[in-house]
Amino acid sequence: MYEVLFQAHSGLRFIVFFALIIALILAFAGWFGGKEFTKTNRIFNLVTMISTHLQALFGIFLYFVSPLAQYNNMGEAMKNSTLRYWTVEHLVMMLLAVVLITIGNSKSKKLLNASAKHRAVAIYFGLGLIVILAAIVQSGRPLLGISH
Ligand code: HEM
Ligand code: HEM
Repeated sequence: MYEVLFQAHSGLRFIVFFALIIALILAFAGWFGGKEFTKTNRIFNLVTMISTHLQALFGIFLYFVSPLAQYNNMGEAMKNSTLRYWTVEHLVMMLLAVVLITIGNSKSKKLLNASAKHRAVAIYFGLGLIVILAAIVQSGRPLLGISH
């Protein structure tokens, strides 16, 4: 079970990255280029939402079976930087990123003006991407390579 969830969570990261980056480029282009908020924008935002939410869901399941998530042993986990990262830091940073992306998507749906819609996605998805990249750099694992 650990191996299956690990591979799913590890592999889905590529879809999360690419969907997020395409949605971001389209949002910045729409914002600065004064473009309409099109169906293409909506579709890439939706693909980003589905992949990041699914990634978070796999992550939560993975958390319960990973030998590196030592939530029953917090005292020891805190003293070891690898265990602390996988028990606390990864989860907190990644959930924050997913929340930022979800807020951006919700705002872009509620706002009426095309420029404001693009801006909400550009800013919140952009912040989400920064937090995800920071978390992955912090993990010490390769950004775009499977570690084991
Ligand atoms: C956008 C959200 C997320 C992204 C992009 C992400 C990304 C990653 C990456 C790149 C890895 C390393 C995979 C490898 O070494 O091949 C990983 C591992 C892991 N993630 Fe996430 N993650 C996210 C959310 C979460 C959440 C919300 C949780 C827990 C609640 C979580 C729990 C874990 C666990 C337990 C591991 C495995 C550690 C191990 O056993 O080696 N992740 N994640
Ligand atoms: C950990 C479990 C999950 C939680 C807590 C969660 C929570 C949320 C929240 C709070 C929203 C925002 C709703 C709004 O805009 O008002 C949302 C939207 C969304 N979620 Fe999730 N979600 C989860 C899992 C999933 C999964 C597994 C998928 C798909 C495979 C998914 C796909 C979506 C999509 C597509 C939207 C955006 C809908 C739209 O823009 O119309 N979520 N989710």
